[in-house]
Amino acid sequence: MQHSNTPPVLNARVTVSPTSAEPESHRYDVLIGPRGLDELPRLLKDLVPASRYALISDRNVASLYGAHVAGLMADAGLVVDRFDFPAGEANKNREVWSDLSDRMLDARYGRDSAVLALGGGVTGDLAGFVAATYMRGLPLVQLPTTVLAMIDSSVGGKTGVDTPGGKNLIGAFLQPRLVLADTDTLRTLPEAEIRAGLAEAIKHGAIADRDYFEWIAGSVELLLGLDPAALVRLIGRSVEIKAGVVGADEREHGLRKTLNFGHTIGHAIEAQSRFSLLHGEAIAIGMVVEAEIGEALGVTASGTAERIRQTLTAFGLPVAVPADFATTATLDLTRADKKARAGRVEYALLEDIGVTSPGTGAYGIAVDDETAAEALVRCRRGAAEVSR
Ligand SMILES: NC(=O)c1ccc[n+]([C@@H]2O[C@H](COP(=O)([O-])OP(=O)(O)OC[C@H]3O[C@@H](n4cnc5c(N)ncnc54)[C@H](O)[C@@H]3O)[C@@H](O)[C@H]2O)c1
Ligand SMILES: [Zn+2]
Repeated sequence: MQHSNTPPVLNARVTVSPTSAEPESHRYDVLIGPRGLDELPRLLKDLVPASRYALISDRNVASLYGAHVAGLMADAGLVVDRFDFPAGEANKNREVWSDLSDRMLDARYGRDSAVLALGGGVTGDLAGFVAATYMRGLPLVQLPTTVLAMIDSSVGGKTGVDTPGGKNLIGAFLQPRLVLADTDTLRTLPEAEIRAGLAEAIKHGAIADRDYFEWIAGSVELLLGLDPAALVRLIGRSVEIKAGVVGADEREHGLRKTLNFGHTIGHAIEAQSRFSLLHGEAIAIGMVVEAEIGEALGVTASGTAERIRQTLTAFGLPVAVPADFATTATLDLTRADKKARAGRVEYALLEDIGVTSPGTGAYGIAVDDETAAEALVRCRRGAAEVSR
């Protein structure tokens, strides 16, 4: 019989295995596809049965999808309450964590309830930290609605909040029971956020899989056009790479550091911009500078920085250090980034597209200030026009 309503499709499933330090029960699926949220009630009944569900979202996402998701759940006989908080990184803090927790306590949420994080990485980290701490831990379901959350923050189990002293300083590990990425939700995401999320996918290709990198580079129109099949492939492969690296870290000591490619310089540039650059935009610049550093040291194959630059440019991402960013200030900020060892700063550098250099064995390579400074200057906006 032909149904007029075609059933929702979930085209990809990536199973994330626990590290050996965690029980086998911590294995969870990442389900990816258009109309994914339509499957949520059935999946919750099967995989995360609970007497009540706290659906946590920032207000942007709540106004777009909160009523729809809560409605689907209520129609299926599930008990759900919505808890909203103001959007933005500035609200990923202890005050909002305690406010959400207090509202759940007031509503008499018990140990037999579960938390659903519907939104971007801010919501995932914050709601995840509520779940990790509420009555010493509730089951968590990640419902990511940004590219970054789908390919990065919803996988790996890190939850937490920022403090005035820095980002993500207070937190806990809590693996989700399920990650459900409905690619249709990306249709309302601002284009700058889509591009910034894609920078992290380009990073995944650069550190671990040349074919994936080249496929992304050749799929600019499909990806920026939010082609469902392309998105499913992108999210699926990026999740595999991230989960593979995070899961293998304890065996291959330091492998997790490969995810830092572009981030030593990128975090510094992000801070220097006073967060006017999106994280993914700053990381795009950081990848180019760090590839230049690697080439200067003879660690990275020549031409790598140029290939990364071309690819990022095709996606409309920035690749040059803003002209008014003082190099000494950028370097000082890299030293604030926890990875400084004895006056030199540790970087995760590529050997080539798809291969991270193992360095001295732990994927960290100490770089002297002079080499880093020269690469920053070479990557300055306007520098290319002057020198070429
Ligand atoms: N836990 C981890 O392993 C991990 C990894 C990487 C990043 N992070 C964290 O992730 C956060 C950044 O995540 P993000 O980039 O998703 O930011 P975000 O959650 O702030 O989302 C970006 C903006 O998009 C809006 N939005 C979200 N989904 C939308 C949709 N479908 N349609 C329209 N608007 C939508 C949000 O309201 C917000 O304004 C940072 O706090 C970072 O520390 C965590
Ligand atoms: Zn990042």
